Amino acid sequence: MKPFLKWAGNKYAIIERIKAILPPGSRLIEPFAGSSAVFLNTHFDEAILSDINQDLINLYQYLKQDGQKFIGYCSTFFVKETNNADTYYQFRKIFNSTGDMRLRAALFLYFNRHGYNGLCRYNNKGEFNVPFGKYTKPYFPAEEMMQFHHKIQSAQLIHQDFIQTMQMAKPGDVIYCDPPYVPLTETANFTGYSSGGFGIKEQEKLAELAKELSRKGINVVISNHDTHFTQTAYESARIVSFQVRRFISCKGDARGQANEMLALFGMDEEMLAG
Ligand SMILES: C[S@@+](CC[C@H](N)C(=O)[O-])C[C@H]1O[C@@H](n2cnc3c(N)ncnc32)[C@H](O)[C@@H]1O
Repeated sequence: MKPFLKWAGNKYAIIERIKAILPPGSRLIEPFAGSSAVFLNTHFDEAILSDINQDLINLYQYLKQDGQKFIGYCSTFFVKETNNADTYYQFRKIFNSTGDMRLRAALFLYFNRHGYNGLCRYNNKGEFNVPFGKYTKPYFPAEEMMQFHHKIQSAQLIHQDFIQTMQMAKPGDVIYCDPPYVPLTETANFTGYSSGGFGIKEQEKLAELAKELSRKGINVVISNHDTHFTQTAYESARIVSFQVRRFISCKGDARGQANEMLALFGMDEEMLAG
């Protein structure tokens, strides 16, 4: 099932790799839900989807509650007359000042398909600030939204930080963590805060929590770049590394290789036996 949102770092392309390592369980918890690619393509009785991005969770909540009615409302923003820079910037202004959360949810979807590269970015005042994307005919994901509406009924949606979400886990749960990537090279900015406020401290805290929860019988899988830092931080986990082809340059033809890893923190049979 394809996510209806474009989302930086989404895991739709490597879903089979993730499914191969994800242990079974009664409830899936995704503290970094993003486009929810993993939830959409796995089958657990229950789920918690959580993210620090309030606009994302707000959109999911309307789609969960109102289904077709909300999809119809969103489609009214996907017409020829709204696909121009003037309207886009007007909508952006309204989005940044309105208290109407349903309108905000619909505009968030509009920006996802009409904004530059489907990016989601805010300035330090918390205002959405992605420029117009100049697409000829932005796609309206009606079918994907309907599928999402059906699937999401079994999930709890929460806007909160990953620490609080992970603390909700109980034995039998499976947690899939997909944090913002650590940089491929350990440059100076990694010692401070990288974009989105997710820096080295948060990466370390996540690894520490995964270790702690696995000792309580909760399996945790973390996705990240395969670097010296992650190899060290996840050394108690079972690690699977693989290559993913992706664009790493602004130039369309400059494709590069970036190693990706999946780390499984869990009790193996030996530990359970003894
Ligand atoms: C790499 S994306 C997840 C992609 C997702 N797995 C998918 O397939 O679309 C990382 C997500 O973490 C969220 N995030 C960043 N910092 C966070 C935090 N402190 N707590 C919870 N979520 C956070 C971002 O909003 C973003 O949606």
